[in-house]
Amino acid sequence: MDGFSRYFADIALEGEKIASIGNNLSGRKEISASGKWIFPGVIDVHTHFSLPFAGVVSSDDFLSGTRAAAAGGVTTIIDFTSQVGDEGLRPGFERRMKMAEPNCVIDYSFHACIGRFSQAVENDLQWASDNGLTSLKIFSAYKKAGLMLDDGKIYDLLCKSKPNGILITIHAENGDVIENLIEKEVFKGNTGMIGHSISRPPFTEVEAVSRVCRLACSANSPIYIVHLSCGESAKFIEKSFESGRIFLETCPQYLFLDDSLFGKGNGHFFASCPPIRQKSQQAGLIEGLKNGRIQVVATDHCPFTSQAKNTWRNDFRNLPMGLPGVETLLPLILGKSSVFQLSPNDAIKLISVNPAKIFGLYPDKGTLQPGTDADLVVYNPAVKKILSAKTLNMNIDYSPYEGFETQGVVEMTTSRGEIIFNNGELRAKPGRGKLLKRRKFECSQ
Ligand code: URP
Ligand code: ZN
Ligand code: ZN
Repeated sequence: MDGFSRYFADIALEGEKIASIGNNLSGRKEISASGKWIFPGVIDVHTHFSLPFAGVVSSDDFLSGTRAAAAGGVTTIIDFTSQVGDEGLRPGFERRMKMAEPNCVIDYSFHACIGRFSQAVENDLQWASDNGLTSLKIFSAYKKAGLMLDDGKIYDLLCKSKPNGILITIHAENGDVIENLIEKEVFKGNTGMIGHSISRPPFTEVEAVSRVCRLACSANSPIYIVHLSCGESAKFIEKSFESGRIFLETCPQYLFLDDSLFGKGNGHFFASCPPIRQKSQQAGLIEGLKNGRIQVVATDHCPFTSQAKNTWRNDFRNLPMGLPGVETLLPLILGKSSVFQLSPNDAIKLISVNPAKIFGLYPDKGTLQPGTDADLVVYNPAVKKILSAKTLNMNIDYSPYEGFETQGVVEMTTSRGEIIFNNGELRAKPGRGKLLKRRKFECSQ
């Protein structure tokens, strides 16, 4: 995936679009950005605003979450619908729209998320595709929560989604093995964070990744695997598949954090599924980012306050799983790109260009060209910033990245030509964000 380069230029905006890019352009209002970088707005394709989990709800709603996103240079998010019982895709979409529409300050879309591939879901595939909901989210885990699809259903869905231009995205862990290991750990009395780690070992991800990739190849269908946590999984893909139809996503928590955190008093604050891993897993993920096998870094933003995490009563089975991240995606992936020896261009590909291409948003999003949406980030690469929950805008009281030093700072974010964040000031009106009708997935990607 290419099509991105860096050069000196002026950018002229007209209404919601980029009018032209060139030298010595002039306009009614001019903003100097000399010495700064301007790049397309970041696209976080994996957020969970107001997600109910383990008796609590993730602490960012569509307003606080998208405001924080804007402060972090994110101009588009893709969140998830939910399914009740055997219902089709429309009711879940309508419920989420009621929450998102009056609140989002940036543009948004949804992955239609299901735990059951029912007849009603099948009947709605065409509707979803016609209405720009061109990705579905499924799980090979969370069996007890009733979200896990068996292999037969996964294969069937892969076969039936492709003709509709719908990309299947999957949380790939082996749910059966995990439930068995959880029982064993609980029997031994290991209900602390060590039990969480031991009951979800790397092979439960690697196995599920390999299985669903095999199913996708057999169905001749593309697949997108969310939140890859193990370098071993990325390496497996490298060896086994040449096809460009397997898309992988990882998240900052798997690149920057490791399971030594679980031994600390607040180790449960870092609980997620899949869990953060031993440090040794990071090299394979970083290699995957460099060699192009991992195309996307997204956040899986699913924050819980310390009070919500503390409801766990020393039993990982009660934990609301997930970490905050939408606002720290750009600071970590661009602002610490040198840690991975990635160029700034490579970093922007991973968090803007590639997600736009894979999820049917390109070229309106994910590039700066005449005629495309004026979603811009003005970034000052010369300034250092220390990340802290105190100064971040997410609705959080701790950050997994507290004290991390990042290079560069977002000075301004525009969304369709409107300045929504300017030097620390959030200006966007609730509900100004637009539901995006995404293109059908095309297999040439
Ligand atoms: O722990 C996580 N990742 N929470 C959010 C839900 C999911 O599985 O993505
Ligand atoms: Zn997941
Ligand atoms: Zn998630």
